Amino acid sequence: MRNLPVSACVLFLCGFLSTELLVGTPSLCVASEVFALEEGQSCLECHDEMEKQQVLHPATEGGDGCISCHEQDDPLQHGFADRPEPIAELCLMCHEDPLAAAHQHPPVVEGDCLFCHNPHQSEHAALLTAPQGELCLNCHDADAFSGQSVHGPVTTNACSACHNPHAAKQAKLLRAAPPELCFRCHDKELEDGQQQKLPATKRLFEDEQAQLHPPFAAGDCGDCHRPHAAEQPRLLSAAYPFGFYQPYREEAYALCLNCHDPAAFSEPRTLDATAFRNGNLNLHQRHVDKTKGRSCGICHSPHGAYQEHLLQSGMTFGEVTLGISYTTTENGGNCSTSCHTKVSYDRLAPVNNPLRVSPRQGEDATAEQLLEAK
Ligand code: HEC
Ligand code: HEC
Ligand code: HEC
Ligand code: HEC
Ligand code: HEC
Ligand code: HEC
Ligand code: HEC
Ligand code: HEC
Ligand code: HEC
Ligand code: HEC
Repeated sequence: MRNLPVSACVLFLCGFLSTELLVGTPSLCVASEVFALEEGQSCLECHDEMEKQQVLHPATEGGDGCISCHEQDDPLQHGFADRPEPIAELCLMCHEDPLAAAHQHPPVVEGDCLFCHNPHQSEHAALLTAPQGELCLNCHDADAFSGQSVHGPVTTNACSACHNPHAAKQAKLLRAAPPELCFRCHDKELEDGQQQKLPATKRLFEDEQAQLHPPFAAGDCGDCHRPHAAEQPRLLSAAYPFGFYQPYREEAYALCLNCHDPAAFSEPRTLDATAFRNGNLNLHQRHVDKTKGRSCGICHSPHGAYQEHLLQSGMTFGEVTLGISYTTTENGGNCSTSCHTKVSYDRLAPVNNPLRVSPRQGEDATAEQLLEAK
């Protein structure tokens, strides 16, 4: 800003501009210094801090636009009429109502456009007063956006990729409801923070050959994932082991046990807790419930897979991928993997597999009991 002598008082001849262009304009009052402006003098001549930043409000451009918002109240005084309250009235002269949807953001309802936008210029897209994430965290709790895994668009401050900051048809100001929201980005392979490739979730979702896990098929991504950040890897809302081996503890499988019965994995003998049993010998328990227990992800894929019962075709053990080939039978199944020779289980007529096995707990059920359980 160029400093002027306070006595500067030149006849202001540009008043016609304000009448010609700004009839009916809500105006803006800001206490200004008392002096008049010279004819044809650009506002930018003195207000040279304007139009210096990367993003300019088109309304101000060239300096001519200033008076579209700053109505000359008293040209002789370099004075401006009353500022509309709320300021949104001024913005709505040129902009469509940003609240034209059912779910509305309180600061916009209050008309507090200037909390988020600079009316003149900014270093940030959309004339924001701060980078988006930072801006939103003035009012929202930062803890909700940090954790062991933080979602890519949150890391890059792209809140508005998912939320409309003004108003939206969807609750929580969402631009779309999951899963469509998620598929705006997860329709292709993406890379996580460790340069690992993430498969295109949408492709599996739409693949008619695949058998999908019911909550995934229903598009209830929020049953297992948090949208912003989580204390578990992969934005998971509860614990789920990623390693090959997992010493058995219920808490380690909290995610799956939110919906599935823990008895299916911990009771050595059962006639009803799981269908993965040879007679009444619980094969889930045999695999999962030990110090070197096999985690669910070795056999199952949590979104969907190409074999029955969400059984995946391959599992990763260190650097190698071990194949799993599974077929169902009337009362059980056959499984051929690199872990052991082809084996079978049958709920009605227990199979005697040629495996070196650790001692079994509990008693075999009788043929009548098995028949009754079927
Ligand atoms: C001859 C130099 C000069 C010109 C030309 C000029 N201004 Fe100013 N303007 C000033 C000075 C000096 C101030 C007082 C600055 C301050 O208080 O920081 C001021 C204050 C203002 C303020 C109030 C600022 C506040 O902090 O309250 C507004 C709004 C304003 N000018 C708008 C305009 C507009 C619009 C134009 C063009 C129509 C314009 N000015 C032209 C010198 C000028
Ligand atoms: C889109 C409407 C709009 C346009 C166009 C506009 N202003 Fe403003 N101006 C405002 C608002 C709103 C404020 C009040 C800001 C606040 O209260 O934080 C303001 C405040 C000011 C102030 C007070 C100091 C400040 O920066 O907050 C000055 C000086 C000013 N404007 C000058 C100008 C000049 C010069 C132009 C043209 C280059 C211009 N304005 C164009 C809306 C506008
Ligand atoms: C005199 C007309 C006018 C007024 C008044 C006005 N704007 Fe604008 N504004 C425009 C025009 C023209 C554009 C560019 C076209 C568009 O995006 O709609 C624009 C663009 C914007 C943008 C997008 C900028 C970008 O780079 O993406 C924002 C944000 C904005 N205005 C906010 C405001 C706010 C806040 C107010 C009230 C303080 C306001 N406008 C008042 C005319 C105006
Ligand atoms: C809580 C912060 C916040 C408030 C309050 C707010 N905006 Fe915005 N506005 C944003 C963000 C963030 C964007 C960028 C959206 C994007 O990236 O797509 C934006 C974008 C805009 C745009 C550019 C076009 C568009 O819709 O994307 C305009 C125009 C605009 N705002 C006008 C306004 C007006 C007028 C008000 C007051 C009635 C207002 N905003 C209040 C945060 C806000
Ligand atoms: C000036 C304060 C303020 C700013 C800045 C702000 N918000 Fe809000 N926001 C609120 C208030 C108040 C509520 C309503 C209470 C609540 O849900 O926390 C709210 C609610 C929300 C909601 C939930 C709406 C619902 O239906 O439950 C979302 C989503 C949201 N804000 C996103 C954002 C985003 C994205 C930004 C940054 C572009 C942002 N907010 C910036 C004040 C703010
Ligand atoms: C990948 C999409 C996505 C991004 C990016 C995103 N959000 Fe959200 N946000 C959501 C979803 C989905 C919900 C609704 C969660 C629910 O219903 O439990 C939500 C809910 C919210 C809420 C309501 C309170 C809550 O936790 O339920 C606020 C506030 C919010 N988001 C703010 C933000 C802010 C601020 C950012 C940027 C730092 C951001 N969001 C980025 C998807 C996103
Ligand atoms: C705006 C784009 C965008 C949207 C929308 C989006 N994501 Fe993402 N998501 C990404 C990017 C980029 C990555 C890779 C970076 C990373 O790992 O966070 C990612 C990674 C993930 C990851 C792995 C995170 C990790 O820590 O490895 C999960 C899980 C995920 N997204 C779930 C979702 C869900 C659920 C939704 C819908 C609520 C969704 N995403 C919407 C962009 C998006
Ligand atoms: C039943 C729980 C569950 C549901 C429902 C679910 N996910 Fe996942 N998701 C997981 C688990 C567990 C992982 C980690 C898998 C792994 O890496 O072994 C994961 C991983 C991901 C990843 C990382 C890439 C990958 O495939 O490993 C993305 C992206 C993702 N989910 C998106 C989604 C989206 C989008 C939805 C909704 C359509 C969704 N998820 C529904 C449990 C779920
Ligand atoms: C939000 C609830 C929910 C969560 C969390 C959940 N599931 Fe499921 N799952 C279901 C429902 C519903 C079914 C279908 C009924 C049934 O078989 O129990 C199902 C079925 C299954 C099936 C049998 C599929 C078939 O075709 O026989 C497997 C395997 C499975 N889930 C594994 C998992 C694993 C592994 C986890 C943890 C990553 C998990 N589930 C987490 C709800 C859930
Ligand atoms: C060694 C491979 C293997 C492991 C490890 C494994 N499962 Fe299974 N699971 C199966 C097979 C095979 C079936 C199909 C049983 C049938 O219907 O014949 C099955 C079936 C299921 C079902 C359908 C209901 C039932 O019990 O019959 C659920 C749910 C399930 N598994 C969840 C899990 C969870 C959660 C984990 C980790 C705690 C896990 N599984 C670990 C192989 C495995």
